[in-house]
Amino acid sequence: MKIIVIGSTGQLGTDLMKTLKLEHQAVGLTHENIEVTDYSSCLILKKHKPDVIINTAAFHRTDQCEEEPMKSFSVNALGAKNVTTIAKEIEATSTFISTDYVFDGSKNKPYTEDDIPNPINTYGISKLAGELYTKQNPKNYIIRLASLFGVAGASGKGGNFVETMIVKAKKKETITVVDDMWMSPTYTKDAATTIKKIVELKLPFGTYHATNQGYCTWFQFAKETFRLLHIKPDLSPIKTRQLQMKAKRPRFSALRSKKLPKYDIQMSEWKEALKEYLIEKGHNPTNQLCE
Ligand SMILES: NC(=O)c1ccc[n+]([C@@H]2O[C@H](COP(=O)([O-])OP(=O)(O)OC[C@H]3O[C@@H](n4cnc5c(N)ncnc54)[C@H](OP(=O)(O)O)[C@@H]3O)[C@@H](O)[C@H]2O)c1
Repeated sequence: MKIIVIGSTGQLGTDLMKTLKLEHQAVGLTHENIEVTDYSSCLILKKHKPDVIINTAAFHRTDQCEEEPMKSFSVNALGAKNVTTIAKEIEATSTFISTDYVFDGSKNKPYTEDDIPNPINTYGISKLAGELYTKQNPKNYIIRLASLFGVAGASGKGGNFVETMIVKAKKKETITVVDDMWMSPTYTKDAATTIKKIVELKLPFGTYHATNQGYCTWFQFAKETFRLLHIKPDLSPIKTRQLQMKAKRPRFSALRSKKLPKYDIQMSEWKEALKEYLIEKGHNPTNQLCE
């Protein structure tokens, strides 16, 4: 298959390119090659005549999205509209990467593909709009991910949570992390493998949740990172209300897939994925190099 990855040098895009290249003709488009908010720039998609377009481009700094709703909608919603309009015209499959933040967090159990989105911040609202635009192409996949960590680091966020924790620990900073916000940490390498399977096995079009299994609070995620690295920084839990954040966040946004296990697609448990990530990133958890 010929598959275009928009945002190919991003955190997820990097892993998608690595895995897709093994068996497919993968074409990576960076932000320099395409501006999704500009329809005429998106016409480059036509030239490549792809079978599948995977759109990872996003404005996903959650607090900044509150301050810049126009930019948020421009990239996350209008961008999805532009890409999908062209995909539909050339009969390519639109694959839109979405988020756990389309849910309000009140369920207190992992959200499945059957649950109804009800976003509570601008980022989530704009991504849900992106999902709806993507559905205008009957050949669509909406793939919801959450709390990503990958070797490339998020270009839109300047790294990822795990790296931020490690840097703080190395600087011997006092670290406080929220212990009342639950999510499913997800390794982009695993997410990329799952996205590849969905596309190449031609699973029925529609929405899929593709996160590592299980869930935890951000504090527990940090604690497990340090446990694996055998380091004991000055880490303590705090409550979300102690932080002055611009955007409201769902208190519980863990995801679970009801659909993927039916196709024998199962992602590993988040702790296992975290360990693999630390090894891939060269932090070498087993050899205690970070002590
Ligand atoms: N990161 C998370 O924790 C998380 C959680 C759930 C869902 N997601 C979703 O997962 C996807 C990938 O996230 P990620 O962490 O891989 O993000 P990322 O590292 O920021 O990658 C996004 C890529 O899209 C490009 N891009 C941004 N705006 C663009 C535009 N207007 N036109 C064309 N390209 C543009 C970026 O290029 P530049 O950097 O050069 O601008 C970057 O290469 C996003 O759709 C996000 O909403 C992320």
